[in-house]
Amino acid sequence: MCGIIGYVGKRDAYPILIKGLHRLEYRGYDSAGVALINEAGKLNVFKAKGKVAELETFATDKDTTGHIGIAHTRWATHGEPNTANAHPHYSASERLAIIHNGIIENYSVLKAGLMQEGYSFKSDTDTEVLVQLIEYTQVDRHVDLRTAVQLALQQVIGAYAIVVLDQEHPDTLIAARKGSPLVVGIGDDEYFLASDATPIVEYTDKVIYIEDEEVVTISNDREVEIVTIGNVQKPPEIQRLEMSLSQLEKGGYPHFMLKEIFEQPRTLTDSMRGRINLRQDNISLSGFIDNRERFINAKRIIITACGTSWHAGLIAMYAIEEFARIPVEVEYSSEFRYRRPVIDKDDVVIAISQSGETADTLAAIQLAKERGAFIFAICNVVGASIPRVSHSGCYTHAGPEIGVASTKAFTAQVVALTMLALCIGKEKGTLSPDKYFAIVRELGQIPDKIERVLGQNKRIAEFAKMFMYAQSFIYLGRGYNFPVALEGALKLKEISYIHAEGYPAAEMKHGPIALISREMPVVVVAPQCGTYEKVVSNIQEIKARKGRVIAIVTEGDDLISKIADFVIEVPRTEECLTPLLTVIPLQLIAYHIAVVKDCDVDQPRNLAKSVTVE
Ligand code: G6P
Repeated sequence: MCGIIGYVGKRDAYPILIKGLHRLEYRGYDSAGVALINEAGKLNVFKAKGKVAELETFATDKDTTGHIGIAHTRWATHGEPNTANAHPHYSASERLAIIHNGIIENYSVLKAGLMQEGYSFKSDTDTEVLVQLIEYTQVDRHVDLRTAVQLALQQVIGAYAIVVLDQEHPDTLIAARKGSPLVVGIGDDEYFLASDATPIVEYTDKVIYIEDEEVVTISNDREVEIVTIGNVQKPPEIQRLEMSLSQLEKGGYPHFMLKEIFEQPRTLTDSMRGRINLRQDNISLSGFIDNRERFINAKRIIITACGTSWHAGLIAMYAIEEFARIPVEVEYSSEFRYRRPVIDKDDVVIAISQSGETADTLAAIQLAKERGAFIFAICNVVGASIPRVSHSGCYTHAGPEIGVASTKAFTAQVVALTMLALCIGKEKGTLSPDKYFAIVRELGQIPDKIERVLGQNKRIAEFAKMFMYAQSFIYLGRGYNFPVALEGALKLKEISYIHAEGYPAAEMKHGPIALISREMPVVVVAPQCGTYEKVVSNIQEIKARKGRVIAIVTEGDDLISKIADFVIEVPRTEECLTPLLTVIPLQLIAYHIAVVKDCDVDQPRNLAKSVTVE
């Protein structure tokens, strides 16, 4: 979703801004733009529909000089993706330019007021309304820019991260946030502003995370100054980034997604490092230890998340109910926040988010917090909004995930949640020590077992070609592998644009069976555990109707091998850990089908990596 970058310092701003936009591309966008103040003090704005490369082509013969500037990748909310709606937006006098990530919900009311004052608009965006409002406030109230920003934002309902550039102050950037992320990077005599740390990391590891309703002023000859929109001073809190530049490069892989799929043995080792001891017989999670009583006395656990993180939450439901005997509800954050849910102060709410910025999950946390629940976050991005507003949590340590389709973040979430479920079960006494030790030991083996699954990549790439013309897929699974079926279908939809549905295998009889034909591949996740025999019957039912079956099975399974059309084997493991292995071939199937279809694997159309608006 929209990406923001700003620079003020001694260097040429344009190359830094363009490089920053490329780093932010992974968030998802449909147009891009840049604003710079040149040596003569003129504020220039250049914008283009499409990719950042198109903006660069457009700007080739333009004046892109200047040591201060802002740039933006836009993911359309109000108004179609075209050049007029791209950011930055000028104010009426063209003295100010703004970039914005978020949604101004009351923009039509504000716009009507400004129109009555004689303002006209060049775009359909809510953002242009905000910059006009800021300029109007500046002129009407005779106040400086920062005060005008504060007063304008007091009238805004909605979410924003904004940066404003003022031609009259060619050394200063003013930025603010509420609900959408914003980070300040502090270099030597230079400053950066961005939606996340990815464009900043190659210049500095010193950052300040701006909080909701804070307005920050950055200028190359002054210290960073933060005030709230109500004008209360806030001391800037400088933090160190844990990210490295090499994590943001493809490292020889054709796509970030493939790199991230192959990173999983290492990322899962990182997720477990310092938490599972060397003897692999004990887990120590500080977030659990510090809040032991909350967890073991919880009457209910509510898991809230979106997208792939929601699938990880479903797997956690099976694990927590099995090991800790606590009822679990898994909620889409977007539904949970609006349906007046019953939340008790004894409830534990687990919020799962790769980015830590998903607007619906943040709002769900807010709601549960207001009702007194304890909030535990499972998050990948260190320092993101969700871990900061939660009471406690556990970072997944999967490293930056750039491919829009989540892969390594998902398996790291499943590992973190499984460790949590095991800790609760052990401390409550609802999980036998033997079972606990067996699973902990087996967790330590998972990275090597994933390596074995990845060894089949070439074979999977070959067979994936056969399915590039399929119009639709069904994915089936049961128990711990039902969420894996949902995740496999989501991966395929996201990056290959082939329709796919995930279903609990036994539910097939209640609908999807009507769709089965030679033309529609059915992917069945069928490791030898739990309801294995019943899934075998489901495969028979599909074959009886001439369906084509791709089965994910346990190594050495010669029963399904005889009936399925294509079989991918995964090593044997504890039932609760099977998703960590069975999901790998599904990630690879989706990836290879998307590649043969020539789809944009890392930046699929219309999708955003970090969904910071509702
Ligand atoms: C978007 C991403 C998905 C992700 C979902 C939830 O849709 O494309 O990959 O699963 O948001 O994001 P979160 O960062 O909260 O896990």
